[in-house]
Amino acid sequence: MVKTKAPQNLPELQTLTVEQNTLNSGLQVAVDVGNRVIKYCTPAGAVKILPSWHKDLEEWDTPIPDKNSVVLRYLQGDNSSLIGQSWAVGVVAQDLGGTPTFESDKAFLAPKLVLAMLERWPGVRHVIVNYMACSLPNDLQQDKVEAIVKGLTGTHQITRNGEGMTVEIRDVEVQPETLGAFKWALSQKLFKYARVNGILDLGGKTGIGQLYTKNGTLIRESRILVEGTYRLAQMVARHSELIRQDTMPNLSLIMDAIADGSLTYGTTGISFADKLPHYMSQWLLDIRNKLKIGWAQWLPELGEVLIVGGSAPLATSLVEQTQGRFKIAEQPQLCGVKGMLL
Ligand SMILES: Nc1ncnc2c1ncn2[C@@H]1O[C@H](COP(=O)(O)OP(=O)(O)OP(=O)(O)O)[C@@H](O)[C@H]1O
Ligand SMILES: [Mg+2]
Repeated sequence: MVKTKAPQNLPELQTLTVEQNTLNSGLQVAVDVGNRVIKYCTPAGAVKILPSWHKDLEEWDTPIPDKNSVVLRYLQGDNSSLIGQSWAVGVVAQDLGGTPTFESDKAFLAPKLVLAMLERWPGVRHVIVNYMACSLPNDLQQDKVEAIVKGLTGTHQITRNGEGMTVEIRDVEVQPETLGAFKWALSQKLFKYARVNGILDLGGKTGIGQLYTKNGTLIRESRILVEGTYRLAQMVARHSELIRQDTMPNLSLIMDAIADGSLTYGTTGISFADKLPHYMSQWLLDIRNKLKIGWAQWLPELGEVLIVGGSAPLATSLVEQTQGRFKIAEQPQLCGVKGMLL
């Protein structure tokens, strides 16, 4: 089996600094359970990310936690399906051959992945979260919303990296993906015109185009689903050098190589740099065509579209073709989660 490689350029899991009084009165947190990267932030601006992988542990698994890996055991609590389970999240889950979230449905994995993001502070075992914002591509899918809200609300007694803690989550809200980025864009005054403006979120699995009216109302009918980096990776997997391999190319390895700029498949030395521009233009053309058709009725009054998500840096041709009407956010991967609490 090809050994998977940790994504490069991972900012370190930052240590949360929260004042005692904030903790006593309960925390507010936002967690964007991405198909590729789990993103977390607090109103004070503390941000953490972890690779979106988990591994359900067998009795012989003894993973070592590190700054990009968390090991959990669920002892008791309101999520009865987790009682007695142990799992790892992050790089060690990837290295142990666990499951990448993009191969499953992230809504149903959310409780396991979100609990990994909550940590205890020195001397404090009982962490109270007054309000937690999560997000989904389609917040009208009731079964998925319920999986997140019911799976997380309540009290959870867990061990996290070997230390006992109790997490009490009082209120969970599921927001539509793109809303956080839109609120972030408004707070930073990134849209020049008081018109219909939009967000194009190019994530790992899902891409979403979403328009908002000039007073900030989400236009439900304007939600266009496009393909994230996953689709680009599927195209790369058809590269003649990769297709000659004995095994099917591992899409995670391809996406990691795109993200870290090596454009080389794992440790095989096979480079797909020669064909990537061609695949990228095909991928972006498809996205552009879908948006053109889906947004036809709003195009005459469209202001600007902010491109966010980890794959946003790949979309420079969309910026050129639209003469800057589409523009790439600074820190595109994190602006969504940062806006979820605004
Ligand atoms: N600098 C970069 N250049 C190009 N691509 C990048 C870069 N950094 C990350 N990526 C790509 O971004 C993707 C992750 O983006 P993001 O965190 O927005 O996805 P996600 O939120 O986890 O997925 P989804 O929104 O589908 O649930 C990865 O697949 C990676 O290949
Ligand atoms: Mg995302």
